[in-house]
Amino acid sequence: MSLKLGVNIDHIATLRQARQEAFPDPVDAAAVCLSTGADYIVVHLRKDARHINEKDVARLCKNFPGKIHLECSCAPQMEKVALKYKPYSVCIVPEKPGEVTTTGGLKFTPAVCKQLAKMIEHLHKKHILVSLFVSPDAADIRTAAKLGADIVELCTRDYAEATTAAKARKLLQDLALSTLLANELGLEVHAGHGLDYHNVLAVADLGGIACMNIGFSIITRSLFAGLPTAVTEMKDLL
Ligand code: PXP
Repeated sequence: MSLKLGVNIDHIATLRQARQEAFPDPVDAAAVCLSTGADYIVVHLRKDARHINEKDVARLCKNFPGKIHLECSCAPQMEKVALKYKPYSVCIVPEKPGEVTTTGGLKFTPAVCKQLAKMIEHLHKKHILVSLFVSPDAADIRTAAKLGADIVELCTRDYAEATTAAKARKLLQDLALSTLLANELGLEVHAGHGLDYHNVLAVADLGGIACMNIGFSIITRSLFAGLPTAVTEMKDLL
């Protein structure tokens, strides 16, 4: 099984919103990602639409040739957007007011499970694959399977932020065991959050993971990898 890459382009839109311009356009970024090897284009629609907005989701889902993976919370307005534009897949993530980024996997309380079951059913009716963002925890993975998810995305944030090699090893072990269990339960496994050019290989080497969803490290790396060309082109014009 070859490991797929989902590139999260949210922060192209963050830059656009900083000046409230029409550029840089996430759809242009999606085209570059697709032509350079991305298997999925990932966008996270947040309640405050602080980077990706509904129009971006519409443009990507309607006109873009690649597979769009939409991340959103389990909220009626998000479900409405997903059902309207029908991305290839939806990853349901928790969203806390004021958070800078997603802080962890879903907390499966009875009330949350009830809401998730409904949203999953509605998405499936429109043939949209459903992923649940979960902590690498056996009980949570079993709950995701019971709820009828197609995919679990294992949260790699704790691993990425581990402060010692021993902690990282233990968290990798949790990811490995969670992947085994999820695969056994028939779930496709994705992994994401905080993955970068230094920590991704150890996760990839665990095996059994179908896709890595990576955003911040790729978009920030692109600034430095692309800045020399941008400066040279402007200097040449002058
Ligand atoms: N996967 C999920 C579910 C996320 O919420 C995010 C952040 O939006 C990512 C992956 C990408 O994380 P990062 O930007 O740290 O690579």
